[in-house]
Amino acid sequence: MSSLTKVLAEEVRKIEETAAVDRTVQKDRLTHHLMPPAGWLNDPNGLCWYKGRYHVFFQYSPFEANGGLKFWGHYSSEDMINWRYEGVPLLPDSIYDCHGVYSGSAVAEEDKLHLFYTGNIKLDGDYDYINNGRQSSTLHVESEDGIHFGDKEVAISWEDYPENYTCHIRDPKVWKDGEEYRMILGGRQKGDKGAVLFYRSEDLKNWKFDRELTTETTFGYMWECPDFFSLEGQEVLSVSPQGLIREEFRFQNIYQSGYFILKDGKPEEKTFQEWDYGFDFYAPQTFQDGKGRRIIIGWMGMPDADEEYVNPTAETEGWQHCLTVPREIFYKNGMLYQYPAEELNGLRMDGISVSGSCVELPVNGPFDLDIKVKGEQGKISLGENLFLDYQDGNISLALSEKAGAGRKVRKAHIPSGKVEAFRILADTTAVEIYVNGGEVVFSTRYYPETQEQAVKVEADEIRGEIYKLKKCEM
Ligand code: FRU
Repeated sequence: MSSLTKVLAEEVRKIEETAAVDRTVQKDRLTHHLMPPAGWLNDPNGLCWYKGRYHVFFQYSPFEANGGLKFWGHYSSEDMINWRYEGVPLLPDSIYDCHGVYSGSAVAEEDKLHLFYTGNIKLDGDYDYINNGRQSSTLHVESEDGIHFGDKEVAISWEDYPENYTCHIRDPKVWKDGEEYRMILGGRQKGDKGAVLFYRSEDLKNWKFDRELTTETTFGYMWECPDFFSLEGQEVLSVSPQGLIREEFRFQNIYQSGYFILKDGKPEEKTFQEWDYGFDFYAPQTFQDGKGRRIIIGWMGMPDADEEYVNPTAETEGWQHCLTVPREIFYKNGMLYQYPAEELNGLRMDGISVSGSCVELPVNGPFDLDIKVKGEQGKISLGENLFLDYQDGNISLALSEKAGAGRKVRKAHIPSGKVEAFRILADTTAVEIYVNGGEVVFSTRYYPETQEQAVKVEADEIRGEIYKLKKCEM
């Protein structure tokens, strides 16, 4: 271990120790969403199932609640509800990543866990300058126990990327395809067009450029955090494009995340579907688990483009952002549905049946509402904090001034045209709303003044359950 590694690791240990003492007085902490032990969290990284445990790594700035130098933090779990914090496996301690251990992914072999990520080097001056402001190589590390990782090796050097790209190439997602390994990277072409690059390898060490893929016309200037997988015979390309123009029912956040179901191997602009329509969702990653399920986890945190949002926890509690719960992905009606992994049902307790056309229930803390509704229109409110309203195949999510901390409304069209069911997983300051079993999803942070609030539902007919949620070990 180099002396820089030791110094950085010790600083992280100290700040996490201090944060652990403060936790007892933090009212906005979450009970079933993974959050940073201290400071800032962004993208989920290296999601995998290895030697009987789930592993969730994440972009982590332990010293800065508003983001800063990036490390990888690490949680692991047997059941995706109780998590163990495993520390910081990757620190910005080498000449290839001293300005940030950026996003990446994992390949779990029988005997070894491989991580691939972007090592970020910012050059003097304007480091974001399109053509020569940074050097972002793809790096590789290995582990036998899934916790401790060996030496960092360059898998693809920044000098070897194709010439028609700017210095913005990053976020490798790697997977095994038969006897071969494949990698996809997100990029910004010269001329400001978002695209992905594919590489191939036989040994995870030597990588050959294969091809690039993009839309016919420009669909955003940069595609971050790409993912590629097959589900029920459909090829899916997931990307997080930057630079899409905001519309009333789509692309309402500063950056988006969504997917193309490829037609003849190509992504068509008009088929792009957003993964989530809430205020807080970006840079998701998927993986296949030991049970053969395709699971997705997203970053539940997003700066806002044109609203006055300041995440209250950064100021008052010294931490910011979280991850969504693990969701299973299904191919249905020509699109992808997402639904909380069934393990989350294990957190339910004290269920109460609800029915009628107007239901009002007091809750105190995290809950799970699971209902079917009938009729053309309806409403759900969580106290004076969060309001869902649907009519004529459209749905809106509104936050009160206080609970939204400056955020107001997000809207979505329901592809099937009607609303038939809701699942609402409400944490202390984070809510995930699944419409029609995950046809449309809204993920958002919200900040109710008190956890005691009335959950009110109005529709022609309502039938279902509401449960309290147990606190996860985190
Ligand atoms: C997406 C992203 C990635 C990058 C990482 C840095 O949120 O910008 O492209 O690797 O965050 O934290």
